Amino acid sequence: MEVIIRPTTEAATELTAQLIAEKVKQKPSLCLGLATGCTMEKVYDKLANKHQEGLDFSLIRTYNLDEYIGLSPENPNSYRHYMNENLFNKINVDQHNTHLPLGMAEDLDKECKLYEQSIKDNGGIDLQLLGIGRSGHIGFNEPLSALRSRTRDKALTPITVAQNSPLFDPPESMPKRALTMGVGTILEAEQIIMLVTGKAKADILAKAVEGPITSMISATALQLHANCTVIVDEAAAANLQCSDYYKWIFDNEPKWKPYH
Ligand code: F6R
Repeated sequence: MEVIIRPTTEAATELTAQLIAEKVKQKPSLCLGLATGCTMEKVYDKLANKHQEGLDFSLIRTYNLDEYIGLSPENPNSYRHYMNENLFNKINVDQHNTHLPLGMAEDLDKECKLYEQSIKDNGGIDLQLLGIGRSGHIGFNEPLSALRSRTRDKALTPITVAQNSPLFDPPESMPKRALTMGVGTILEAEQIIMLVTGKAKADILAKAVEGPITSMISATALQLHANCTVIVDEAAAANLQCSDYYKWIFDNEPKWKPYH
């Protein structure tokens, strides 16, 4: 794992978008794993700008991490709606190549199996983008999610309900369950970038990066991944013990030189 600390949210977000853009240029048919949430909105704004400047997304394939159970794709709070509004409608991705689990599926177990199969049939995820929830979740892998879990339905914790329900009107209408890629599914991505910003995430980020691996904090499983970069701003980095070390690596590792 590498931890890159950038001075501001803007700089952390820009670096994330830049790394994604470079991967798309290197491999136009990139299979991109995507996340939703407030943190990602700024990344998607930047990717939309890069498209305006000529970046071609016509061949990419995308798989989102999760979707609320019971929300139709048209529901303004569904993650399908979020993705259309924040990214897909602003770039030239082929909508047929964008995938989210269907929260309205009649047979949820079958939907999860089909989702896993579809990822496999597409050759696996090349680059997975992640945020972290206040519960330590990646995707909606709430505490005690097995580190080998696959796509499945999951009850959301009160911490996650508190985090996301203000986006619903009324807040009580937020679904309490979701379909999510499993921790094991996420770990199979060839490369992972997790973006974490803001002081509200400082405590959980320190546990995720520097604490012991535990299913109580699914993001700790990223320590097992061979190619995982965690990009954070100074506010989110506030509780890290080894910030100076991470900064030293960023300053001295040749591969990061172009980004100084
Ligand atoms: C949603 C997802 C979640 C979010 C996390 C952070 O698709 O994967 O793990 O990344 O809840 O959300 P924000 O950015 O809203 O704090």
